[in-house]
Amino acid sequence: MSSHAGTAGPQTTKRDFLGLVTAAGAGIGVAAIVWPFIDSMNPSADVIAAGAPIDVDLSKLEPGQQIVVLWRGSPMLIVNRTPDALKTLQSPNLLSRLSDPNSTVMQQPPYAENWHRSVKPQYAVLVGICTHLGCLPGYMPNPDPTTPMPNWPGGYFCPCHGSKYDLAGRVYSGVPAPYNLPVPPYRFVNDKTLRIGENPPGVIFALTSVVQM
Ligand code: FES
Repeated sequence: MSSHAGTAGPQTTKRDFLGLVTAAGAGIGVAAIVWPFIDSMNPSADVIAAGAPIDVDLSKLEPGQQIVVLWRGSPMLIVNRTPDALKTLQSPNLLSRLSDPNSTVMQQPPYAENWHRSVKPQYAVLVGICTHLGCLPGYMPNPDPTTPMPNWPGGYFCPCHGSKYDLAGRVYSGVPAPYNLPVPPYRFVNDKTLRIGENPPGVIFALTSVVQM
């Protein structure tokens, strides 16, 4: 099992994500702090294994922070996106660099077929498994002029083969990953409580419908 995000090789898959989440936290700070908090809120292991919906309290998730929770054994990435990040998601410069900027490929439920790929623009909810070979993309939300690519506006970087995604999980053109990160079924049960594994009333969608996990 890989134990360090910086040395994660092509063999690293979602099975290794716990080690990757911990290691990635060392580089991004925020997730390392939030992870223990969320971990303690998760339902019991047997509930998770059964695939039951899980509730996530977003009341302590600050702007710019990400939390990672497990659902059906996979990491779910939840981000409180800042107003600046939302502005960037709509910038023509970013859109011109993406492979599927309008989410035309079936990688999300119908309620996430929009520019923010989510129910509420503020909150991203994504499956944290690279659509190339299944590594865990690292959260790099801050713009950077050089890393991991020129004029990086913030997003996700997969250390295995260099795939890049924006903060809506949309994949860049010219990278190994072929598709946007999937969006799981979810809904808000109230303003600050997210339920992963359950669609809004009247919608039928399952992760088995996506083109690629
Ligand atoms: S698994 Fe290959 S780039 Fe992510």
